[in-house]
Amino acid sequence: MTAHATIFFGLWLQNPLRIAAANPSSARLADTLARCVDLGRPGPVLELGAGTGSLTSGLVRAGCPPERILALEREPRLVTVLRREFPGMTVIEADATRIGEYLASRVERLCTVVSSLPIKWFPVEAQRAVVKPCLELLGPGGQFLQLTNAFSSPVSIEALGIAGREIRRVWLNLLPAQIWSYSERSGA
Ligand SMILES: C[S@@+](CC[C@H](N)C(=O)[O-])C[C@H]1O[C@@H](n2cnc3c(N)ncnc32)[C@H](O)[C@@H]1O
Repeated sequence: MTAHATIFFGLWLQNPLRIAAANPSSARLADTLARCVDLGRPGPVLELGAGTGSLTSGLVRAGCPPERILALEREPRLVTVLRREFPGMTVIEADATRIGEYLASRVERLCTVVSSLPIKWFPVEAQRAVVKPCLELLGPGGQFLQLTNAFSSPVSIEALGIAGREIRRVWLNLLPAQIWSYSERSGA
């Protein structure tokens, strides 16, 4: 087990529901997710629940400079890892439900949002607090990408009044993973 995987596993043992996975995402999954990001769009890439940076590394391998990534993580030990591994990246130590407050005064436009938060376990109001401010800054054609092991939408599409669909499925992973894409409904 790598040092990062050991930290991650230790935190998961202490609180499985907060961390939501026993291991960091694989490089294969990270690369598949990164290929869904259109880096030609303007603005930073926002990563929610960045953990030890497995998905972040996929974004960097795909050509996104760390300086263009805003990575949010709640666990202080994981924040320390992210700051050490990606020195140029902005690391936000916060609960994801407060992302609206952070973005309001600092960001005019987002390229894409990449989330591996355990969002299917969040109450609807918490899902709304995470997803809605992001969709506002993504603008037309922008995607809120969510990783999940669930075989149905992890975000309550109807309650939030948004559009969502599964865009990729990765079978060759520890657990099969799906990537969902959310956006404002057309005409909204
Ligand atoms: C399934 S792990 C994914 C970690 C990493 N992105 C990866 O793919 O290996 C979920 C991550 O979300 C973080 N997290 C969970 N709930 C959160 C919240 N409300 N606010 C911020 N981070 C949260 C956890 O600490 C954990 O690092």
